[in-house]
Amino acid sequence: MLIGVPLETAQGETRVAVTPETAKKLKAQGHTVKVQSGAGVAASAPDEAYAAVGAEICDRATAFGCELVLKVRSPDAEELALMKPGTALVGMLNPFDKPGLQALASAGLTAFALEAAPRTTRAQSMDVLSSQANIGGYKAVMMAADKYQRLFPMLMTAAGTIKAARVVILGVGVAGLQAIATAKRLGAVIEASDVRPSVKEQVESLGAKFIEVPYETAEEKEAAEGVGGYARPMPQSWLDRQKVEVAKRVAQADIVISTALIPGRAAPVLVTEDMVKAMKPGSVIVDMAAGRGADGVGGNCPLTEAGQTVKKHGVTIIGETNLPALVAADSSSLYARNVLDFLKLVVTKEGALHVPADDDIVLACLMAQGGELKKN
Ligand code: NAI
Repeated sequence: MLIGVPLETAQGETRVAVTPETAKKLKAQGHTVKVQSGAGVAASAPDEAYAAVGAEICDRATAFGCELVLKVRSPDAEELALMKPGTALVGMLNPFDKPGLQALASAGLTAFALEAAPRTTRAQSMDVLSSQANIGGYKAVMMAADKYQRLFPMLMTAAGTIKAARVVILGVGVAGLQAIATAKRLGAVIEASDVRPSVKEQVESLGAKFIEVPYETAEEKEAAEGVGGYARPMPQSWLDRQKVEVAKRVAQADIVISTALIPGRAAPVLVTEDMVKAMKPGSVIVDMAAGRGADGVGGNCPLTEAGQTVKKHGVTIIGETNLPALVAADSSSLYARNVLDFLKLVVTKEGALHVPADDDIVLACLMAQGGELKKN
């Protein structure tokens, strides 16, 4: 099969969908891999590294003109114009972006959005949300440590003692767990909150304290169970009690890292302006939900500005929207392996595209085929 790997052009995007490691494997499977010149440069993979494993370096139109195009982000209108009807596309195509998906369908593509894979054991090796959120959680702590004007670990020196940083993590999915693990390695004291009670054990096993907010009604208990491993919107009664508990911790915190998301909905507001005002000067918030709040600018904190680092009420608020792209080599390496594993489900040994009608992962990821949208 002819496989094309274009250079990503979305603003700030540094990742690449195929690394020299996975290009070598695709080649060994009998495919021809055409990599747009410069596609891997920002991820520390120069053209020569691809050429060394037998990939062909090509121009933009050639990469998009292949039978199968492997991307990180969904193609824009100009890129779609370079793709022939019937082309297969695999990438992070944003399954909640209806107009974007419609454009892929109208272009006649067979399009697979990897973010839509179910959170099952079989899908783990191709779970792009996990591979990227894991890196995002790590980088969030690194960015916080960089902006924070104090140290993370407790230090006893001849000149006196430095107190350990207090870190509060809001939302303990994949990113939150990695943020806890990373902050712990740096010596911080950590507390964490999530709507799903099942994460308490994981939080504690990483050496952090879980912020308990008991469930008082059947409705609260049911909502907390979530769906498919994801959170559901919680009843206001529970959110009000959570707010009180979180506010107490945030007021004492040096660093807040918020990662709380509900698929297909606006990110919940967990750090209000009043809470920011109550924080100590010099504190840092990293809002990993930046740009996903109801207004499309804020995140878990309404003062967040997507893509910006701002200082409000003496607190630095980091609103970086693509943390994995700041760790391009490793995030590409994991993403490329996710893509390679997904291809095992849709490309036959003979090198033809085959969309199995009975595969739950493939069906969940299939967004468009034969000119039609496959999702409502
Ligand atoms: P996510 O990125 O959708 O959300 C992040 C976290 O925010 C979640 O833990 C969610 O419960 C939490 N959250 C939502 N509203 C909140 C609120 N109001 N207050 C506090 N926290 C709030 O989640 P992610 O990281 O994608 O993980 C989703 C689930 O999938 C998790 O249960 C994870 O363990 C599971 N998972 C399962 C896998 C598997 O079995 N193969 C692989 C990866 C993840």
